[in-house]
Amino acid sequence: MPGPRLAGKVALITGAGGGIGRATAERFVEEGAKVAVLEINRELGEAAAASARAMAGNAGGDAHFIHCDVTEKASVTAAVAETIRRFGKLDILHNNAGGSTPQDGSVTEASEEEFWRVIKLDLFGTFLCSKVAIPEIAKSGGGSIINMASNLALMAVPGRAAYGAAKGGVASLTRAMALDHAKQKIRVNAIAPSVTLSDRVKKLLDSNPGISKLAESHLFGLGQPIHIANMAVYLASDEAAITTGQIMSVDSGVTIY
Ligand SMILES: NC(=O)c1ccc[n+]([C@@H]2O[C@H](COP(=O)([O-])OP(=O)(O)OC[C@H]3O[C@@H](n4cnc5c(N)ncnc54)[C@H](O)[C@@H]3O)[C@@H](O)[C@H]2O)c1
Repeated sequence: MPGPRLAGKVALITGAGGGIGRATAERFVEEGAKVAVLEINRELGEAAAASARAMAGNAGGDAHFIHCDVTEKASVTAAVAETIRRFGKLDILHNNAGGSTPQDGSVTEASEEEFWRVIKLDLFGTFLCSKVAIPEIAKSGGGSIINMASNLALMAVPGRAAYGAAKGGVASLTRAMALDHAKQKIRVNAIAPSVTLSDRVKKLLDSNPGISKLAESHLFGLGQPIHIANMAVYLASDEAAITTGQIMSVDSGVTIY
C-alpha cells in the first residue's frame, strides 16, 4: 500500500471555507498534509477546518483556521506568518479564493465595480498571496503552487467578460510564475474547472432555467468539488514532479464539445 500522498507537507489554501476549497482541505488532510484554512468568513473557516481535521486518521494531517482577506497585504502577511508559526514551514499554496457573480455581463453590461471586484479577488489576490508565500516555499526547498483558473480562461461564454478576463489573467500569471520560480524548485500550475456544484454555484443555478442545456455540454455531467480537489492533490504531490506552467482542465469535456 502506498503511503499518504502529502505526508509531511504544509499547505495553505485560500477561500477554504466553502465549495472546492473546503473539499481540497479535507482531501489534503486525508493525504497527511497540515493545512492552513484561510477564509474571510470566520464561521465557514472554523467549520471547514473542523471537518478537515476529522479526516486526519493516522496519516499525520491537521487543519487550522486563519482569518484572512486575500486582497489585503497586511492580512495575507499575517496569515502566512501564522501558518509558519503553527506548522513550521510552507510547501504548498493553493490560490482558490474567487468566483463570479450574476453582476457580470458583456463589456457593455458589466459595471466597472464588478470588473474591479473580480480582478481584485481572483487575479490580484493570487498575485498577492504568491508574492508573500513564495519566499517561504523557497526556504523549505521548493514546493507547489496551485492557482484557480476556469474553463472561461480557455473559451468564451456569453455574458462573462469580467470573470473571463480575471481567469485569463490567472492562466497567464501561472505560466509567468512557473518560469520565474523554477530555479527555486517551485512548480506552478492552475486548475480550470467548468461548472462545479459548490453551494454558491448551486444557488446560482437554481435561478437559471438553462441548467439542463448547460449540463448537456458536460460529457460526464456537472462537476463536484471533490473532482477538483483530487486534481489539486496530484498537483500538490511529488507525483507531479515535472508538471509546471500547465492549466489542467477538469471540466467534463466542455472545452472540446
Ligand atoms: N464552482 C464553479 O463552478 C467554479 C468553476 C470554475 C472555477 N471556479 C473557481 O474555483 C474557486 C472556488 O470556487 P467555489 O465555487 O468553491 O466558491 P465558493 O464561493 O464556494 O468558495 C469561495 C470561498 O472564498 C471565500 N472568500 C471570498 N472572498 C475572500 C477573500 N477576499 N479572502 C479570503 N476568502 C475569500 C468565500 O467566503 C468562500 O468561502 C474560485 O476561484 C472560482 O472562481 C469555480
